[in-house]
Amino acid sequence: MKPEFDLYDAKRYEQSGPPYEAFRWLRENAPVYRHPEPKGPGFWAVTRYQDIVHCSTHPMIFSSWIGGTNIEDYGEDDLVAMRAMLANMDPPAHSRYRKLVSTGFTPRMITRLEPHLRQLARDIIGAVAARGGCDFVTDLAVEFPLQTITEFLGVPLDERKKIFDWSNTLIAWDDPEYQGESDPRTAAMQIWGYANELAERRRAEGNGTDLVSVLINSKVDGEMLGPQQFELFFLLLSVAGNETTRNLISGGMLALFENPEQLARLKADPSLMPTAVDEMLRWVTPVNYFRRTVSEDTELGGQKLKAGDKIAMYYTAANRDTAVFTNPDQFDVTRNPNEHLTFGVGEHFCLGASLARLEIRIFFEELFQMLPDIALVGPVRRLRSNFINGIKSMPVKFTPVKNVAGRDAA
Ligand code: HEM
Repeated sequence: MKPEFDLYDAKRYEQSGPPYEAFRWLRENAPVYRHPEPKGPGFWAVTRYQDIVHCSTHPMIFSSWIGGTNIEDYGEDDLVAMRAMLANMDPPAHSRYRKLVSTGFTPRMITRLEPHLRQLARDIIGAVAARGGCDFVTDLAVEFPLQTITEFLGVPLDERKKIFDWSNTLIAWDDPEYQGESDPRTAAMQIWGYANELAERRRAEGNGTDLVSVLINSKVDGEMLGPQQFELFFLLLSVAGNETTRNLISGGMLALFENPEQLARLKADPSLMPTAVDEMLRWVTPVNYFRRTVSEDTELGGQKLKAGDKIAMYYTAANRDTAVFTNPDQFDVTRNPNEHLTFGVGEHFCLGASLARLEIRIFFEELFQMLPDIALVGPVRRLRSNFINGIKSMPVKFTPVKNVAGRDAA
């Protein structure tokens, strides 16, 4: 029987998380489903793994550029700015631009970060260790990716709160708690202004090794990043490298709390960490969907789509597709293979995937070393968003550890 669902209503995600039952029904009965939208023409909800792979690997038919990558439709002025951002480009412009910004994401650049990230994780966990309890999200899961990305970008530590507030405002447009006095457009302009200020500082100082310095100086095939491209890439990273990893860490911890035998297994055998990280990624899927707009009449999953139609590729649904995963509703830290779609697939495959994997592994390795008996003690509060599978608060306790060097997160 068809369950009652509304994939668009952000409040439902806040109340009970992603609609896994609805996703199962859709995969089995209506894998490309015409979904209504309160203030728009509606969209096709795509829930099967293979269909999402098909759309993502045919970017000229399923365009990121025409209407951007969120379900909402934007006016032409906003679209012009959005289309200059890597995530909203199509080939061939996308391939050229991606090559340019990839200079900052080489495996060497990422591996070089490891010792530093480990120290960062120890400092952040150390700052709460003596307390015997904390809010896992605000004290730990927010701080680690935030400090990592600000460090990576070269944002001074004491200015990171700005990035936190702006990126919350930008991404959690449905959650009044994260909007405050501001709105997404103002936040975007504030980030652009800040990016330019930072670039000016780097130019004045010269020779930095942070990403901003690399980006403002690198040339690929004689091309350099233009000022607007730089601002937009800075904005993309401030958000992409921040919210996603935060919610993976919180959601991954929650999955381990809810599956104590898996938590015990992982703690007993830390060599399982790499497969556990990928299972957390599959299980949590911090980005529920990305949108594409159909550029020419085509067919998908037996449905005829028209040029101009929009689709939402629900990674959250694909990651539990029985055609690809055995027992997908079981959280299994040893799962292998685990070809989840959490980082997308094709041209736009997440540029920060190696950095995110490294961050998650280091964070949990240090956490279980420093606070081995960490346990959930209170209710979990979820983000009001149909886009990001987020957790805002999760109280935990642990045996207090004295004399651990830590840097206060304040
Ligand atoms: C668990 C953490 C993360 C998740 C779940 C995630 C998810 C994704 C997904 C699904 C896409 C594909 C977008 C599409 O196909 O339209 C993507 C793209 C991207 N991600 Fe991530 N991401 C994560 C972490 C990061 C980090 C740490 C960074 C940067 C430091 C980053 C930077 C980017 C960028 C720049 C793109 C655009 C790539 C392109 O359009 O070519 N992400 N991410």
